[in-house]
Amino acid sequence: MTGPDKNTPFPLNGYNNLCFLKNIVTNPNIIVGNYTYYDDFDDVYNFEKNVKYHFDFIGDKLIIGKFCQIASGAKFIMNGGNHLTESFSAFPFAIFGNGWQKAMDGKTYPTKGNTIIGNDVWIGHNATIMPGVTIGDGAIIATNATVTKDVAPYTIVGGNPAKEVKKRFSNEVIELLLQVEWWNWDVAKITKNLHTLTSANFDELKKIV
Ligand SMILES: CC(C)(COP(=O)(O)OP(=O)(O)OC[C@H]1O[C@@H](n2cnc3c(N)ncnc32)[C@H](O)[C@@H]1OP(=O)(O)O)[C@@H](O)C(=O)NCCC(=O)NCCS
Repeated sequence: MTGPDKNTPFPLNGYNNLCFLKNIVTNPNIIVGNYTYYDDFDDVYNFEKNVKYHFDFIGDKLIIGKFCQIASGAKFIMNGGNHLTESFSAFPFAIFGNGWQKAMDGKTYPTKGNTIIGNDVWIGHNATIMPGVTIGDGAIIATNATVTKDVAPYTIVGGNPAKEVKKRFSNEVIELLLQVEWWNWDVAKITKNLHTLTSANFDELKKIV
């Protein structure tokens, strides 16, 4: 047994509200790893609609690792949503033209770079991820969180702005998990060790790495 086919859009038989996301996404600036799934109450093709203000001319990327779990209503705000914040007015005069385009002469809208989601990250229902944020491997984003800053690996964050709720494991365990990178194992090894991966048995983990 080698688990589900990572190249199938709908891995659950007869249920099309959950997809292996890489097989659904069409925007080349959204890059998704194997087995990462997205569940949507209405239609999985809503995913790209929930990647907001994502414009080709800006070119920022949303990069999501492997084995992530993304709940319905998760949103990613990209850099196209940024107005000037350090000027007297945030009003985007230039987009209206007719002589107002000069407002942006010699200026650019602020950009915070790519949004990067690690591997085995669980993003809860209605969470919002702000531009340029990096979320570490194994992190958990609580329901309704608004993530404005980077999240360290294996850390649970919640609230608006999202703050650390707790670390999932001791530093020793986190270090080993980050060294192991089980999501990069071949699927046969993952399948063989599922029992350990779904436990918190550190001794077992040490035996298989
Ligand atoms: C974050 C989460 C995983 C924490 O679960 P847990 O490890 O069992 O933690 P607890 O319920 O014991 O809560 C721990 C702390 O986090 C707080 N907390 C829990 N959920 C929170 C949320 N959504 N926002 C802010 N704080 C939250 C609790 O109030 C508690 O605070 P305290 O330490 O001050 O008492 C869970 O609350 C959650 O949000 N899960 C996501 C569910 C979801 O959206 N699923 C979608 C389908 S896949």
